[in-house]
Amino acid sequence: MGTEEMRKELEGRNQAAFLGGGRDRIEKQHEAGKLTARERLNLLLDKGTFVELDRFVTHRCRNFGMEERKFLGDGVITGYGKINERLVFVFSQDFTVLGGTLSLTVAEKICKVIELALKNGAPLIGLNDSGGARIQEGVGSLAGYADIFLRNTLASGVIPQISVILGPCAGGAVYSPALTDFVFMSKKSSYMFITGPKVVKAATHEDVTNEELGGAMTHNIKSGVAHFAGEDEEDTIHMVKQLLSYLPQNNREKPPSTDCTDDPQGTDSSLKKVVPGDPRKPYDIITIIHSVVDDHRFLEVHKYFARNIVVGFARLNGMPVGIVANQPNWLAGCLDINASIKGARFVRFLDAFNIPIITFEDVPGFLPGTAQEFGGIIRNGAKLIFAYSEATVPKITVITRKAYGGAYCVMSSKHLRGDINYAYPTAEIAVMGAEGAVPIIFKKEIDKAKDPKKIRQELLNEYEEKFSNPYRAAELGYIDEVIRPEETRPKLISALEMLKNKVDSNPPKKHGNIPL
Ligand code: HXC
Repeated sequence: MGTEEMRKELEGRNQAAFLGGGRDRIEKQHEAGKLTARERLNLLLDKGTFVELDRFVTHRCRNFGMEERKFLGDGVITGYGKINERLVFVFSQDFTVLGGTLSLTVAEKICKVIELALKNGAPLIGLNDSGGARIQEGVGSLAGYADIFLRNTLASGVIPQISVILGPCAGGAVYSPALTDFVFMSKKSSYMFITGPKVVKAATHEDVTNEELGGAMTHNIKSGVAHFAGEDEEDTIHMVKQLLSYLPQNNREKPPSTDCTDDPQGTDSSLKKVVPGDPRKPYDIITIIHSVVDDHRFLEVHKYFARNIVVGFARLNGMPVGIVANQPNWLAGCLDINASIKGARFVRFLDAFNIPIITFEDVPGFLPGTAQEFGGIIRNGAKLIFAYSEATVPKITVITRKAYGGAYCVMSSKHLRGDINYAYPTAEIAVMGAEGAVPIIFKKEIDKAKDPKKIRQELLNEYEEKFSNPYRAAELGYIDEVIRPEETRPKLISALEMLKNKVDSNPPKKHGNIPL
């Protein structure tokens, strides 16, 4: 064969690989309102940066006539490229090839990029669109999944791992995304479940659609499996890029600072009035967050799940930070099971990747009741205590209003190694609110009184004067400074700069035992 023919052969193979499962399948994919695996990579990566690996790999299965059904690349496109000029490793499942199913070969390709990502310290992004384990491969495909799970686990906390669900994700296919740091879903075209509606019907007699069982909003609102929901594939991929802009490449790096055009000394007089004088009145904590961060930009994570706690990324004077905030607008900002889990997972991500934690606190306590107790609020609330306690990144807290009971301890208090703890003059720091405390500690006095109503009110006033303020805690050094709300931004930036080179550590151990 002459060199010209050799070149032709290569081009022919390349062209065949680019077509995946063939033109008809590509058309079908488009008709279903979905992009192809390669089109998605084009959207995700900086133009011209994608380098493909294993383009000519084929499966080795000989069961059920599979030797006749081989496609170059075998159901997944893998490689590396750049997003905003930073290296990332990627895989993109190709639904046009045998439904994007996972063969042992597909798994080997995915494992190869995870290992490269790990060795080279760059994020891994998986675009998922797959019917799950390729049934014809038998145990080979199960082995392939387990090989991926192991590598996802070993890479956890070393490089950011992001899963983007853009089609079906059934059976074991859901567990690789679940092991990664962030799950993105595209509305109306993606779903995730252990077993589909038919198996559910057989097992539990429930009638449920794909969308209800495992659609984007089911996992964003109810299960908390997904962290982001995009309107469509393009929007979803755009959100992935936004998220990456806040993250370091790996756990040895600091997150990427950018030039800040927003005044670091900027005060905001509207903050004087955000927290209502009446402690029973709600307000939106996001108003405070938007006011203090650079350019009012806040990328909310888990926006639809456990809305009594708000978590997300922002910048302060160009430095990426993670924000954890109780939301008085939702369940009065109480900590419940889901909020504790949501907060704990986010805090652990931030700590793993050297991102400072800013906590805004206004929490009346843990949510009482049998549903919470039976569901294990003790075990689950402990996750948030554990996460904040073990975190060694800079931790700055602002108590805007209520800091009652266990919730005071939990939310990055001085006692859990909070570095700088601020409070607004409206802060109320005590074991519990006056309404709860007075009937307990003054029961006898109230029962004996001629005018119980009057004495009760006097005692409430006395308690509030004594405890419903930040000054007892400030006298003890548990609050470093009582600040004017309008100065929150410059105060946070000054604390962050002071903590820039913070070093702290935990005792040597294999790993802790977070209460799972
Ligand atoms: C082999 C599969 C397949 C599978 C789909 N295909 N799933 N081939 N193994 N698991 C093939 C189909 O036969 C078809 O091939 C092509 O992919 C496209 O599938 P369609 O059904 O035509 O597409 P669609 O109507 O869009 O439905 C997609 C789907 C459905 C929802 C994914 O195919 C489906 O429900 N598949 C089974 C999903 C599932 O139960 N997976 C779990 C596997 S067990 P042709 O050539 O006919 O077009 C598992 C356990 C792993 O994953 C455990 C690890 C711990």
